[in-house]
Amino acid sequence: MFVIFGLFFLGLLHIPRSNASFSKTNPTYNVNLAPFIQRLSAYYCLQNVSSDCPGNFTLTEKGWLNISESATDAFCKGGCLQHTQDVLQCVWYVHQEYSFENGATIKDIKETMRIGCEKGLSP
Ligand SMILES: *[C@@H]1O[C@H](CO)[C@@H](O)[C@H](O)[C@H]1NC(C)=O
Ligand SMILES: *[C@@H]1O[C@H](CO)[C@@H](O)[C@H](O)[C@H]1NC(C)=O
Ligand SMILES: *[C@@H]1O[C@H](CO)[C@@H](O)[C@H](O)[C@H]1NC(C)=O
Repeated sequence: MFVIFGLFFLGLLHIPRSNASFSKTNPTYNVNLAPFIQRLSAYYCLQNVSSDCPGNFTLTEKGWLNISESATDAFCKGGCLQHTQDVLQCVWYVHQEYSFENGATIKDIKETMRIGCEKGLSP
């Protein structure tokens, strides 16, 4: 079973050569494709990391953004909030139903950031 999946995945990686509509570097081109490819496109969106988002500021497929209260300002004002919103926008565009490994949805992550940053920015 695992081997079959592996072969399938390797086969899929050849798609970009034969199918110009799949893009790794610009996943937002990959709209309205098969569910498996939507998920792969979302994965490529999440590969867009920024130096504004060091360490546990970086959103991954796991779905955790572990930002302590003292680090809230660094996240919200340091450019990582904007970057993470852009990445989420990319994921939303290719796969609106995307859920992270921890079960969080795109909306959940957006909401967490909104609440976290509002709370952190208030006196
Ligand atoms: C974030 O916190 C969760 C729950 O406390 C934990 O399971 C997860 O491993 C943490 N992730 C990182 C990247 O620290
Ligand atoms: C996130 O990482 C920073 C530095 O790497 C650390 O200071 C901070 O405590 C971490 N936050 C959590 C919630 O693990
Ligand atoms: C990567 O993220 C940046 C924002 O930090 C955004 O401007 C850029 O368009 C993204 N690239 C892709 C390929 O989505």
